[in-house]
Amino acid sequence: MISKQLQRARDYEAERIPEIGNEERPVFHLTGGCGWINDPNGFSFFRGAYHLFYQYHPFSNVWGPMHWGHAKSTDLLHWERLPVAMAPDTSYDGEGCFSGSALEMPDGRQLLMYTGVHSESGDADDPGRYQTQCLAWGDGINYEKYEGNPVIFPETVPGGCVASDFRDPRLWREADGTYRCVVAAMTEKRTSRIVCFRSEDAFHWEYEGDIAESTKKLGGMWECPDYFALDGRQVLCVSPMAMMPEGREYHAGHNTLAIIGTRDPDGTFRQEAMQQIDNGIDFYAPQTLETPDGRRVMIGWMQAWSNSKFVPPGVKYFGQLSLPRELHVKNGRLMQEPVRELLACRSGQIIRKDETVKNGTVSFPGIEGRLIDMTVTVRDFSELKKLDIFVAADETYHTSVSFIPKRKMLRLDRNYSGYFYDIVHSRDMDVETDGGMLTLRLIMDRYSLEIFETGGGRCATMSLFTPLSAQGIFFRAEGTAHIDIEKYILQ
Ligand code: FRU
Repeated sequence: MISKQLQRARDYEAERIPEIGNEERPVFHLTGGCGWINDPNGFSFFRGAYHLFYQYHPFSNVWGPMHWGHAKSTDLLHWERLPVAMAPDTSYDGEGCFSGSALEMPDGRQLLMYTGVHSESGDADDPGRYQTQCLAWGDGINYEKYEGNPVIFPETVPGGCVASDFRDPRLWREADGTYRCVVAAMTEKRTSRIVCFRSEDAFHWEYEGDIAESTKKLGGMWECPDYFALDGRQVLCVSPMAMMPEGREYHAGHNTLAIIGTRDPDGTFRQEAMQQIDNGIDFYAPQTLETPDGRRVMIGWMQAWSNSKFVPPGVKYFGQLSLPRELHVKNGRLMQEPVRELLACRSGQIIRKDETVKNGTVSFPGIEGRLIDMTVTVRDFSELKKLDIFVAADETYHTSVSFIPKRKMLRLDRNYSGYFYDIVHSRDMDVETDGGMLTLRLIMDRYSLEIFETGGGRCATMSLFTPLSAQGIFFRAEGTAHIDIEKYILQ
């Protein structure tokens, strides 16, 4: 049955979508039909297609009562919009259907597990609210909320945790056919625990134990946990709120953290290393899935909470999801690169080998555009003080990526990228220079730039609002840069 609230969201979307021109949207990055989106939800493979849901407030460009928007794809890059999947329309989720996950069940249905927010005052931010874990199931288009909701409720919140901040269930099936979910729980001391529940049938749950706990240094509340095996290791990804910066990392306030370790047969998670997942300005609340051919792929919200209230005037929708990335663990580090499906979208190869940029600015014929996949290799830094790569550039606009070899760093700057507000526009990040060479892959999809460091596996993400007329790409060196460029158009 489609509720009044869900029908209203679907009707509203159908009216608004035709008002947004194709060129106002990215090609490979999922956006909401209209209005606001945040976290990716229910990222999964179901009946021959990838499904991707997202936190959605169709009615305005600011966060509001959360719905689940929905899309599917066969290549993780071209998304077909589907009707809004869930609306806040019951007594247990009336203030919002918060983030969660999806799983194909043995009976062939898709099960969604999400957080229902309820408060007496009708305000999702009310500290007196409570958050419970709920289920809905469906056929890949329409979803029905389970009549036994909520399935994990305030009375089952583990001791020491609070029901007001208890959310974002990540559901999976174990090899023995039992189910687990991890949930982010805030403690009475305002730190966070990732708590694990067990079920025989995915409907009746009992608390099994904790996976991890934050200290204040690692943030107050850990949101959106994900937990998976990869390359012989176990990885816990969380999005900590209010985490302390360290060196060039964790400056975003709301950060992304990967903890790498091992999982003992008794379920204990032994932590060995941790790192920031994304080094750019806009990336949060990532989720992963396993593709049918066994790859672990991650996607995140391409925004930062701290900047998200400043929507440039005239913008018709707000928020995008990132490019999906293939993950690996290598030498104890999480390595990321764009999904290989992107290679099939490339054409118009231009290669420039052994170019020299010396104390000045140069451009190269055909090296331009806003829908591009461009790899720049910098060789021999001995005479190079700084190399700036300007993209989305014209007389008014530019976004820059600057390599400073002596400091082993990249500086990202989007001060002139269509924003109207003095929010965070720059970030420094470490890069691997030990081999005497740096290879960066820059992917632009009209309104974003994602940078992947080939050797070190780091990546950095940011969204842009630069008008599409700014198509230029320039290279500027202080000292001498020796570079190779390989550039493709994406389509
Ligand atoms: C993370 C988050 C989640 C919550 C959702 C609400 O960005 O705060 O913890 O479920 O967004 O929209």
